[in-house]
Amino acid sequence: MDIRAEEISRIIRGQIEGFDAQVDVSEIGTIISVGDGIARAHGLEKAMAGELLELPHDVMGLAFNLEEDNVGIILLGEYTKIKEGDIVKRTGRIMSIPVGPALVGRVINPLGQPIDGKGPVQAATYNPIEKIAPPIVQRRSVHEPMQTGIKAIDALIPIGRGQRELIIGDRQTGKTAVAVDTIINQRDTGVICIYVAIGQKRSTVAQVVKTLEEYDAMKHTIVVSATASEAAPLLYLAPMAGCAMGEYFMWHGKNGQPAGKDNPGQHVLIIYDDLSKQAAAYREISLLVRRPPGREAYPGDVFYLHSRLLERASKLSADCGSGSLTALPVIETQAGDVSAYIPTNVISITDGQIFLETDLFNSGVRPALNVGISVSRVGGSAQVKAMKSIAGSLKLDLAQYRELAAFAQFGSDLDKATLAQLNRGQRLVEILKQPQYKPIPVEKQIAMIWVATNGYLDDIPVSEVRRLEAELMDYLDINAPDTLKRIKETGQFSDTTRDELKSHVLAFKETFKASLGQPATVGA
Ligand SMILES: Nc1ncnc2c1ncn2[C@@H]1O[C@H](COP(=O)(O)OP(=O)(O)O)[C@@H](O)[C@H]1O
Ligand SMILES: [Mg+2]
Repeated sequence: MDIRAEEISRIIRGQIEGFDAQVDVSEIGTIISVGDGIARAHGLEKAMAGELLELPHDVMGLAFNLEEDNVGIILLGEYTKIKEGDIVKRTGRIMSIPVGPALVGRVINPLGQPIDGKGPVQAATYNPIEKIAPPIVQRRSVHEPMQTGIKAIDALIPIGRGQRELIIGDRQTGKTAVAVDTIINQRDTGVICIYVAIGQKRSTVAQVVKTLEEYDAMKHTIVVSATASEAAPLLYLAPMAGCAMGEYFMWHGKNGQPAGKDNPGQHVLIIYDDLSKQAAAYREISLLVRRPPGREAYPGDVFYLHSRLLERASKLSADCGSGSLTALPVIETQAGDVSAYIPTNVISITDGQIFLETDLFNSGVRPALNVGISVSRVGGSAQVKAMKSIAGSLKLDLAQYRELAAFAQFGSDLDKATLAQLNRGQRLVEILKQPQYKPIPVEKQIAMIWVATNGYLDDIPVSEVRRLEAELMDYLDINAPDTLKRIKETGQFSDTTRDELKSHVLAFKETFKASLGQPATVGA
């Protein structure tokens, strides 16, 4: 063969000139270290924060820490199979999860996979788990009630659709109970509920699902579950996944089309039970990727994590379809310490707090609501008018009672007026008690509170007040359905309503007193 030297050198020169074999490290990276569900990768120079990454063995990763020479990755899936030297690829997508009506009635994990054994879900579409909250122009102020069915809350700490109301208290104070009752109360309202269980025991979540099924509330509910046994990343993702599912309904009408002026969006209630566990999971991940620890070893941006999440709760404007997303985050305190880092953060982010207390719970006040310090800063404008007009005196009477009760412990010689106030207070406390799973429609709440604040219970022994309440409600159901219906439909407490209610209550009390078997004495 005839080989010409100059030709060879020309070819080689050409190849050298054209040589551009720099490894493309912007799209692909290699794992340089791995452990505890966290990996570090060299390369991936263009990766976005929160971007989904592809690894071998069907493992997915989340770009969590973008550093100068490496990327900290949270591994999702069977991460024990990942080794140093493995290739990791960009997907160019922020992590998304399936959303849509097919998820309603299901129990799913934060990645959108069903875990209730009822087969796969047909998602309408995929939504990114992180999304910027609706801007001000797309919102309007909270103005419709979100009834919990719990007298103490609906009367004194009213919640509106689109509001963020924190449920805070120690363990075993009935936080989950308030949330579950609220879900049950949405049965016939068309509100879609999402219960996000974060870091709870599997048995506890199973119990909640069973309860919801029992009370026919699962048909409008999605349960997103990341239990305590799951890896920290799933606990961290769960609230955002739940929120993304909720946003779908807020932005879509019942027909599945995007909401707008002519296609009303839907109303969603989401419960994050609880965010303290999410914060702990976030701290775990952050420490593993060596972010600097701040107060209580939480990373400095844990406030941003929660504010970003809760800002996504909103009431949309008419142009955007008037949908809403109401958020009830739950925070567990240690020994009632609300001044710890995470509680103070979330208190400052939310529009009000429902404080539940162990002492009250143990003394039989259930729900163990501290009505003195619980507040709702925006729900007042959403409260049913009739309730608003009645709750005013309830609030005042209770406040006076609390003051007197503390003081009356010391002395015995009390004047008549003070005694009367104490008596009234005891009965009001009694009617604000409520068993679990028994949400009460607002018109009945109004009737009962009206009865109590107008002194119709003052001559009933305290121990009989709750029996009277139950029997009176049945009595009104049978004898005064029109009165109740009028309150419900008009939302007003008119003079006619008052007169009707009065005559019914007086008639009922005659028979009730007879059942007491003895002449009732005031303050017995
Ligand atoms: N209103 C209530 N009446 C009676 N028992 C209640 C009430 N609320 C909660 N409980 C009971 O108190 C216990 C603790 O409630 P739970 O909601 O699990 O508390 P938390 O979520 O704060 O730990 C449960 O056994 C629950 O059944
Ligand atoms: Mg709980």
